[in-house]
Amino acid sequence: MKRVIITGISGTLGKALGEEYLREGWHVIGVSRKKDFEGKGKSFSELHTSPQASVEDAARLLDLNPDLLILNAGQIETAIGEEGLPLTEMVESMNRVNYTWPAVVATEAGNRPWDHPLEIIAIGSIADGAPSPFGPVYHAGKIAIHYFWLGVGPILYYSSKGKVKMRLYRPGAIKGPLAWAPVNRLNEKGYKIRKKRVDGAPEADRVAKDIIKWIEKGKGWVGTWDEPFTFRIFKHLHSFFPNLSYKVQMLGWRKASKWGAQMNTDEHDR
Ligand SMILES: NC(=O)c1ccc[n+]([C@@H]2O[C@H](COP(=O)([O-])OP(=O)(O)OC[C@H]3O[C@@H](n4cnc5c(N)ncnc54)[C@H](OP(=O)(O)O)[C@@H]3O)[C@@H](O)[C@H]2O)c1
Repeated sequence: MKRVIITGISGTLGKALGEEYLREGWHVIGVSRKKDFEGKGKSFSELHTSPQASVEDAARLLDLNPDLLILNAGQIETAIGEEGLPLTEMVESMNRVNYTWPAVVATEAGNRPWDHPLEIIAIGSIADGAPSPFGPVYHAGKIAIHYFWLGVGPILYYSSKGKVKMRLYRPGAIKGPLAWAPVNRLNEKGYKIRKKRVDGAPEADRVAKDIIKWIEKGKGWVGTWDEPFTFRIFKHLHSFFPNLSYKVQMLGWRKASKWGAQMNTDEHDR
């Protein structure tokens, strides 16, 4: 029986992925920081409890000998500090789960021999195209994981003689609590734009099916849910004109954040 490991199994997308793989007859190892987590037989066959922080945690996960490893656990800023500043503890834990730990797992997979093929799927985000003050830590972590996968993936593929494949899927907004986090910093006008996006977002089971179809098709290294047109513009602006991109984000903060209207505007346009 094929074995899939899914991190973040207690979350919106992890649960939907687990349910779908169970339906397809896989042995599903769900990973959570929690012990005694409900869902056995529904979204996972077996639970692996892990803080997902250290090299040893990564080694223990790989010892479970999966055919497929979906690094889905992720965190967004559910709380922010005064004037919208990121909270230090959250910066640390978000960077760890969104970027450094998945990167350590992939590196560790490259340090051991595999007698069967292994696919390691990172769950990124369409937020990885450009930085944003409305989800700065999240965007940075998702950009970083995308860069790491694209940079290390070819090395690992060839060094493992094609046995280990690092692929990355970028979901868009999914109906659920995580999609709402950017509103912490948005003013009423910005909130309306976000609400429209979240209201139109697909349910997790639809996204999970799309991801699994993409994984099983085996074609392409990076899979993507449709990106809104504005995301594409920001992405190109950022890569071709980084200084202008910064200015646009400054303007965005003034116009769409809860604090923008209070600012002294003299120093703006350097
Ligand atoms: N929802 C969206 O709109 C959206 C859009 C684009 C991309 N994504 C990506 O899709 C993935 C799943 O999102 P989701 O909506 O299912 O999120 P979710 O409902 O918040 O679930 C994420 C799970 O990750 C685990 N987790 C959170 N912080 C962690 C930490 N610091 N260390 C270890 N585990 C942690 C939690 O599991 P435990 O508490 O059980 O450990 C949590 O249940 C994430 O990578 C996310 O960035 C989501």
